[in-house]
Amino acid sequence: MVLSARISSSMLASIFFIGGMFAQGRSSTAREVRVYSGRHYNTDKKVFKEFAEKTGIRIRLIEAEGISLIEKLKREGKNSNADLILLVDAARINNAAKAGLLKSYRSTKLDKNVPEQYRDPQGRWYALTRRVRVLVVNPSEVNVNEVKTYSDLAKPFLKGKVCLRKRNSPYNQSLVADQLVLRGEAATRRWLDGMISNVSQPYFPGDIGLTRAVAQGLCGVGIVNHYYIARMLAGVNGSKDKVLAGKVDVITPDPAHINVSAGGLARYAKNNKEAIELLEYLASPEGSIGLAGPTYEHPLRGYNSSKELSGFSTFNPDKVTIRQLGRFNKKAIQIMSQSGWD
Ligand SMILES: [Fe+2]
Repeated sequence: MVLSARISSSMLASIFFIGGMFAQGRSSTAREVRVYSGRHYNTDKKVFKEFAEKTGIRIRLIEAEGISLIEKLKREGKNSNADLILLVDAARINNAAKAGLLKSYRSTKLDKNVPEQYRDPQGRWYALTRRVRVLVVNPSEVNVNEVKTYSDLAKPFLKGKVCLRKRNSPYNQSLVADQLVLRGEAATRRWLDGMISNVSQPYFPGDIGLTRAVAQGLCGVGIVNHYYIARMLAGVNGSKDKVLAGKVDVITPDPAHINVSAGGLARYAKNNKEAIELLEYLASPEGSIGLAGPTYEHPLRGYNSSKELSGFSTFNPDKVTIRQLGRFNKKAIQIMSQSGWD
């Protein structure tokens, strides 16, 4: 028996209880794990519910945006109620680790299920799902054969045709960090200078707005996370977006920059055993596919097979590790700002 109740709602956080309450009664011995999640996907609750049914462990889920989640943890310090932290983006998860909000834990299960490039060498966090930063092109504006990878967006023929999301988006910070690792600082600066000089529209607050602008011909090409296009194609945001997403081509650079959502034990976790059990479940093939399937992300291994992804279902990840993306985040922000990325 499962109860999923919305307890409170505010701009900052929502709390849900999933599982356990009726099965075990509300005794003080009921096992519980308290999850702080920056993954803002309703469908995650289905995976939590499956876990709760399997284990009898109740989940108390607190959802908030990534940045406010980290601030909340810092504020709460030792008094924090968090046992397990879930965050999206390499920069955020690395920053949480750097701020001392996570604690190390290693297990053979986690080491086996999470490929090495997608986990912290110190065991403070483990990726759970993958996302690809792709190019979205309007074929009436730009010859799709001329745009194959991120560096092509610096080419002079794209003057006035490039649209970008704002600099404060961790997705773009991680992309720039990725290029710093792969190509070095001088080449990355040259790429940024060229690409920024091709931008004509104001910088976008989100990937969906940017995709709409490309589809409407306000821009010729942009950079977005792949799952936004899939969600638009699936009609998640309504029929208008479905039509718009059908007008763009998705180009997956080869190799592609891969970002992740990840989880780690909270520094002051009290329900350690339960948190570890949940983390291991989410990182297992079943858990990872369960999280990634309905959000159109990709699991840790293999690809999401949803039909909306059929035009851009596979990718060849570059060799940059999630840890490296974190290490180069500060430098990335610095050179983005110096290049004029707003
Ligand atoms: Fe996102």
